[in-house]
Amino acid sequence: MKRKYLNTLSKLTIVAVVISITSCKEKNGLAPEYMPDMYRSPSIETYVDYGELRGKQGDEQLKNKMTARQPVEGTIPRGYIPYGYENTAEGYILAGENLKNPIPYTEEIGKKGKELYGMFCVHCHGKTGQGDGILVEREKFPPLPVKFKEGLDISEGKMFHTITYGKGLMGSHSSQLNQNERWELVHYIRTDFMKENPNKIVEEVTQEAESIQ
Ligand code: HEC
Repeated sequence: MKRKYLNTLSKLTIVAVVISITSCKEKNGLAPEYMPDMYRSPSIETYVDYGELRGKQGDEQLKNKMTARQPVEGTIPRGYIPYGYENTAEGYILAGENLKNPIPYTEEIGKKGKELYGMFCVHCHGKTGQGDGILVEREKFPPLPVKFKEGLDISEGKMFHTITYGKGLMGSHSSQLNQNERWELVHYIRTDFMKENPNKIVEEVTQEAESIQ
């Protein structure tokens, strides 16, 4: 009885060994895959490019199974407002001539502008806007050619354009600040550093709005 049992066991062992040896043949020089579905799920997945399926790289239909698709050309992300002026010298001049701050000035807006200035601008432009921020003080950045002061001849459109794209050694801030925040900063620079009368700015905005209507 025991002998018979051992016999069966050794036969089973031999079968198992044969199966394991023969089933592990390499195909096309690649190691075999046990249950390939576990490596490459047949279900549709967000970012898996089924075009990578072994041996079927060129299969367009498989490639198109990916659920996350490239947005259609010209798609605008939610909440993003496109900016119509190009990053060129002409774009700068045009923005300077045509762009007006669309946000009515309030004290609250001024405060928000000040906060943003402290986060994104003060290290270069300095606390008083004289281009003597901490980076300049520590000689990590050359003195700034622009000082925010009364009578500074830079229109708000130009300021907005510069904050959007950058200018000279100043980098673009469009990825950190949305359009509203950029306009808030323009308000802050004009009222706080350039000592422009906020009421005058309010008047300008109202006149502009009326002329559009
Ligand atoms: C890395 C340093 C740096 C930072 C940070 C920086 N700026 Fe500037 N900024 C400059 C330099 C340099 C110039 C002068 C550019 C030129 O005319 O070559 C400049 C110019 C300007 C001008 C004048 C624009 C014009 O059209 O001539 C404005 C307005 C301005 N910056 C606003 C800001 C605001 C607002 C922030 C924060 C969001 C900011 N900057 C952050 C370095 C910086």
